[in-house]
Amino acid sequence: MIMEKIPPLFDFDTMPEPETFSNGLTGQDIISVSQFNLEKLRYIFERAREMRELVERRGSADLLKGKIEAALFYEPSTRTSASFIAAMERLGGSVIPITQGVQFSSVSKGETLADTIRTLEQYADVIVLRHPKIGAAQVAADYADVPVINAGDGAGEHPTQALLDLFTIREELGHVDGLRVAMVGDLRYGRTVHSLTRLLRHFDISLRFVSPEILRLPLTVMNEVIDAKIDVRETHDVADVIENVDVLYVTRVQKERFTDLAQYEEVKNQYEITPELMARAKKKMVVMHPLPRVGEIHYSVDDDPRAAYFRQVRNGMYIRMALLAAVLGKA
Ligand code: NCD
Repeated sequence: MIMEKIPPLFDFDTMPEPETFSNGLTGQDIISVSQFNLEKLRYIFERAREMRELVERRGSADLLKGKIEAALFYEPSTRTSASFIAAMERLGGSVIPITQGVQFSSVSKGETLADTIRTLEQYADVIVLRHPKIGAAQVAADYADVPVINAGDGAGEHPTQALLDLFTIREELGHVDGLRVAMVGDLRYGRTVHSLTRLLRHFDISLRFVSPEILRLPLTVMNEVIDAKIDVRETHDVADVIENVDVLYVTRVQKERFTDLAQYEEVKNQYEITPELMARAKKKMVVMHPLPRVGEIHYSVDDDPRAAYFRQVRNGMYIRMALLAAVLGKA
């Protein structure tokens, strides 16, 4: 049988020096969404679309062949860690995963973050770090000569999640300007909320924040929204916003951030998106969630075409492929 020869999608091997293509991201740490302006966002989204095409047509490429990523996760993760591994491997690179096994690494012997980072950079070309402390990614970046990518620093930021969230909004609805976005749940400790809110300041949108009183958006983030002159309102009730939103961004109450578990118990089951609630929403809108969900979205909503959270998961891989390529100078 004659095998059909699939034409190459991009001639990666003969591409010119990539520095000029990477839009200033080569060699850079990715710590906060504040590093991204519209031009950089557009660049990453264009690359992410190419990565999707690449995966759909060929599955993988050799773009990052020989490159090594150290994935150091001090907090639980399924999607972020798996997609950072998948992204690297689909581009031909490889990964040192220190993920499920932080407890088996020298971290458990009391090694400092600084020493762990200075060790890993001896082996790896890029370090992906998730850590329970706000600011940990910046500390790591200060010690490392190789790029550090923040995969979530406590209740601080989660920039790569925000990029994939914004990308998902654009892919699902075709545009961002003019949209009304509601964020629901734990706006206080939810780092994905903080990062996405900050990113959305670049657009002409309105924001609705829905949370229990004790889980309202931190004042620092709220002030940034107000300074950006964005139309913003807060409420405790999803019913107040459901009929008029284009994006419903639902989040988990971040149990691990509470010092008083009784307080967590009080607010944990405040919201549940149900088919009844969805019946009142616009025909063209999307429900998103960074996942994991622990009861905020009823499983019967999954069949609703507006439920975008698993497409959102997949977009995470494309965005991380685009980012790794850019940071490693192979855009
Ligand atoms: C989020 C996180 O870790 O901040 N998950 C993720 O990265 N997809 C949200 C969460 O844990 O609730």
